[in-house]
Amino acid sequence: MSRRFDVTGVGYTAIDYLGVIPHFPEENLKLELDRLKVQGGGPTATATVTAARLGLSTAFIGKVGGDYRGAMMLMKLSGEGVDVSSAVLEDGALSQFAFIMVDAETGRRTILWTRGTLAPLRPEELDMKMISSCRGLLVDTLEPAAAAAAAREASAAGAKVVIDAGTLREGVREILPHCHYIVASETFAGQISEGRGERAALEEMMKYGPEAAVVTLGERGCVALSEGGHIEEPGFEVETVDTTGAGDVFHGAFLYAVLREWDIRRCCVFANAVAAMKCRVLGGRTGIPGLAEALEFLGEHAPGLDFI
Ligand SMILES: Nc1ncnc2c1ncn2[C@@H]1O[C@H](COP(=O)(O)OP(=O)(O)OP(=O)(O)O)[C@@H](O)[C@H]1O
Ligand SMILES: [Mg+2]
Repeated sequence: MSRRFDVTGVGYTAIDYLGVIPHFPEENLKLELDRLKVQGGGPTATATVTAARLGLSTAFIGKVGGDYRGAMMLMKLSGEGVDVSSAVLEDGALSQFAFIMVDAETGRRTILWTRGTLAPLRPEELDMKMISSCRGLLVDTLEPAAAAAAAREASAAGAKVVIDAGTLREGVREILPHCHYIVASETFAGQISEGRGERAALEEMMKYGPEAAVVTLGERGCVALSEGGHIEEPGFEVETVDTTGAGDVFHGAFLYAVLREWDIRRCCVFANAVAAMKCRVLGGRTGIPGLAEALEFLGEHAPGLDFI
């Protein structure tokens, strides 16, 4: 069967207002932001952009409001070559956005975010043809009802499904049985294991039947569990300017690697590398590399592994 897109993303998109702060603010303070950037964000949207930068054909389905921020989100995705013809516009709604403070010293981000006044994306609003005709599907935990329906459809049609398991909120457990790769944040790992640690979290996730479960650990890289056993892959040391979107980028790169049919170790190393490269520049999307740049980085920093 010929596939219309390599990757379809179904989930959350946002506009990020980012600025660098000299130190974390105390209460009742005025602090001037340095180097302000306004750009697209959101887990699935940025993961989809990552897949596009790496050279895949991509589409994004998510909801935006009928305001200028909604238009900006779609324009920024289109500008990356991401097809947004099946995105859903909610006229009259205030679009989602985030204020992000980036610490000048550590590059760590603090995010204040809102969904605006948008209603959740509903399964019946999804273009199922676009979902059943992709090779790989990206979903997140911010639009659980749509993610569950999309994951079920894509998986039944033979696509590989990767979930960015950011937060264990209501409806998320219904998505997990349809995912081939559950790639979780430390927050999610803490929730699903009830604080029993990463190993217990990986085991809990494997109960849903994926090919592998992964927990991302920020600069420490990631850990994974699959039939082949447990692996730990350290992060790549880079000069960190901004960690905003590192997790989102990890997921897009991870799906790219899955579609190349690399083994789980190479999927983890590749995603660690692409996410670390992202951290060298301000903004969730600015530093996402293309494939040639990513392979060059890996050749230099992980010379023992073959990514051809
Ligand atoms: N400071 C850093 N240096 C190098 N790599 C990093 C750094 N921070 C993050 N990464 C890479 O990005 C991946 C994802 O980061 P992290 O675990 O912080 O995601 P997250 O908790 O989902 O947060 P978010 O989605 O908001 O970025 C890590 O597994 C690692 O590969
Ligand atoms: Mg994340």
